Amino acid sequence: MEVQDAIKGRYSCRAYLDKPVARETISQILDTARCAPSSTNMQPWQVAVVQGETLKRMGEQMIAARQEGDKEKPDYDYYPYEWFEPYRSRRKATGLALYKALGIGKDQPDARMQAWCNNYLLFGAPVGVLVFLDGRLAEGSLADIGIFVQNLVLTARDQGLDSCIQASLGEYPDIVRELLGLEPEMTLFCGVALGYGDPEAAVNQFRTPRAAVEEFTRWYD
Ligand SMILES: Cc1cc2nc3c(=O)[nH]c(=O)nc-3n(C[C@H](O)[C@H](O)[C@H](O)COP(=O)(O)O)c2cc1C
Repeated sequence: MEVQDAIKGRYSCRAYLDKPVARETISQILDTARCAPSSTNMQPWQVAVVQGETLKRMGEQMIAARQEGDKEKPDYDYYPYEWFEPYRSRRKATGLALYKALGIGKDQPDARMQAWCNNYLLFGAPVGVLVFLDGRLAEGSLADIGIFVQNLVLTARDQGLDSCIQASLGEYPDIVRELLGLEPEMTLFCGVALGYGDPEAAVNQFRTPRAAVEEFTRWYD
């Protein structure tokens, strides 16, 4: 597959077929993703591949935490405390498109909660790749992690797989560390759902727009 096709064909897939992914395929994806560049070649990424019972238990524990009203405590702040333009509008449009595709209205808080909790079940994907870094590193390493994650999802695409990068899987990192027996410095950046997307699912039909090049580029000759 051409790189351009992988980049343009990828989308956040939020419904999956009940079809397993071969361990060999996951290994191959990680083997390619590890070629990502990183500052001074630090390669700060660490991953945990969760499947089967572990994935199920992780999801159940996160859902229980959310339903019991436990405040999420991510290792990183993803979002600003105060939203401002143009980010506020872009975020709102994305949420609206998603809930519209799911057929959920503003006045349906229970359905919204259920849709959010579906994040913790990786939208039914058979594989979750949890991406960590050593929390003793500096913020700059997050750029390296982002590049690694992009390599991961593009290679998945090349293997005929769909994916969804999920910050939501980092909302309760203590649950993850406890369940997987990880050291405290294993800092959770995000999870990536991997699997074969359900082409019929309504939630997989919408696509998000992007600002034009002129909107984010200044040229200096
Ligand atoms: C770091 C990161 C975290 C994200 N977290 C979530 C998430 O928790 N749940 C979700 O449904 N989508 C999540 N997304 C997907 C974004 O909403 C999505 O990438 C964006 O709306 C653009 O749409 P596209 O991926 O379909 O092109 C995340 C994406 C990134 C890059």
